[in-house]
Amino acid sequence: MIVVIDFGSQYNQLIARRVRECRVYCQIEPPDIDLKTIESLAPDGIILSGGPASIYGKNSPKIDPAIFDAGIPVLGICYGMQFMVDALGGTVKKAAKREYGFAELDIQNKENLFEKIDSPATCWMSHGDAITALPEGFSITGSTENTPYAAVEHADRRLYGLQFHPEVEHTPKGKQILRNFLFNICNCRRNWTMKTFAKDAISQIQAAAADKKVILGLSGGVDSSVTAMLIHQAIGARLTCIFVDNGLLRLDEAAKLKKVFKEHLHLNIRFVNASKLFLDALSGVTDPEKKRKIIGKIFMDVFEAEAKKINGAEFLAQGTLYPDIIESQSAFGGPTSIIKSHHNVGGLPKKMKLKLIEPLKYLFKDEVRALGKTLGMPEDLIWRQPFPGPGLGIRIIGEITPKRLTILRKVDDILVMEIKAAGYYKKLWQSFAVLLPIKSVGVMGDKRTYENIVAIRAVTSKDAMTADWARLPHKLLAKISNRIINEVTGVNRVAYDISSKPPSTIEWE
Ligand code: XMP
Repeated sequence: MIVVIDFGSQYNQLIARRVRECRVYCQIEPPDIDLKTIESLAPDGIILSGGPASIYGKNSPKIDPAIFDAGIPVLGICYGMQFMVDALGGTVKKAAKREYGFAELDIQNKENLFEKIDSPATCWMSHGDAITALPEGFSITGSTENTPYAAVEHADRRLYGLQFHPEVEHTPKGKQILRNFLFNICNCRRNWTMKTFAKDAISQIQAAAADKKVILGLSGGVDSSVTAMLIHQAIGARLTCIFVDNGLLRLDEAAKLKKVFKEHLHLNIRFVNASKLFLDALSGVTDPEKKRKIIGKIFMDVFEAEAKKINGAEFLAQGTLYPDIIESQSAFGGPTSIIKSHHNVGGLPKKMKLKLIEPLKYLFKDEVRALGKTLGMPEDLIWRQPFPGPGLGIRIIGEITPKRLTILRKVDDILVMEIKAAGYYKKLWQSFAVLLPIKSVGVMGDKRTYENIVAIRAVTSKDAMTADWARLPHKLLAKISNRIINEVTGVNRVAYDISSKPPSTIEWE
């Protein structure tokens, strides 16, 4: 395995992704990790990430320099390299010119990191500081016009440094450089697969929850579904899933999920239909945050009441993913401002004295999908787009009424059907409809209509932090619009949302 030290780079998740794409397990750790802990992980190599700080800055992050003497190969990237050079007696200074963007790397030593890479190689730079003198025993292995010390090494000690970013796509041979580090220098083996992960995770769950009962909140989304499958394979019927129908689900959703989970996957599930409770409490409420709070609170109450019926449950399972964990431990990750309050059952374990099981907490989303496939989950479930907890409740602007829900369900159904038929469903991060509470004038069969407007939102994104509106073909948009207006009574106009995030958000509320 590889340990990635997080010096706060916006790219550190990408480094971890790239390493795992090479089928090598890796874990991101904060810089204050001590050598003993690192050694207990028995890494085959360490990667020091980049970061926004200057090594001569006041609060610049530092790791114990003893790692350079531990006999473990180290690759420092950008700030990571500058830290290594500074710690070992070299000099780093503010560069005369900030360098940002493409550069041509003239490779001076084609062994080790640059094996099988032709010179010059395009690379991606983003730095304000630069090395001006190397520590003893180091040599330059590559330079660019602006940066003489663009790549350095101390081959005997297996210490390597790159000023540019091999993990980004703008460095076309970056993956080969990382492969060289992993396989030629660290002697890693390609053994990180979802099959081995599943096997290990199942035995760990069996060991932790031997003879115990586990509860899980199943939403039908990929993360909770894969978590359920994994735990089910480990402990069978001792896992009880709770599915809460909040009345804000898509057309026939509860029935469809019941079929898949109960009949095909044989999960032990309790379906709780709490629609009335939710819809009554939401009656007359128009403010998005108030809606979220109400939905979150009732969800917790309903879930807790149901969970209490399961005698002797000791664990609560959650589909937490790795990006959530990294975010909360990041070297520079302060509390981000709350733009929308998302709800989950976070408070429950303490309240009910349950222990947490989070078997996906070291996985990225695409790995969760691959795991789902390994576990025999149907494609349809694996490729579901994310759906917010408050469901259609935040896709009806203003007040949620049963009539508006009926309209939006029909619209959403047509939209999903057409997006799937055109082969776009998997390519989009999310695609959905929003019902607007304003009416517009139309004409149908020579008659004036005065009906609702729906907006179509389709976005591409990697992680929902940023998103762009999808350039869907006009033909597809035309078909969606025609079908919606012709088939759904109550809608006479369809608009397409062409805003990106930021400054807009993905959901309208
Ligand atoms: P925004 O709208 O903030 O959404 O760009 C980012 C991602 O989060 C989802 N989302 C929610 N998920 N509860 C959830 O569980 C919520 O209240 C909520 N609001 C937004 C949204 O669908 C997108 O994937």
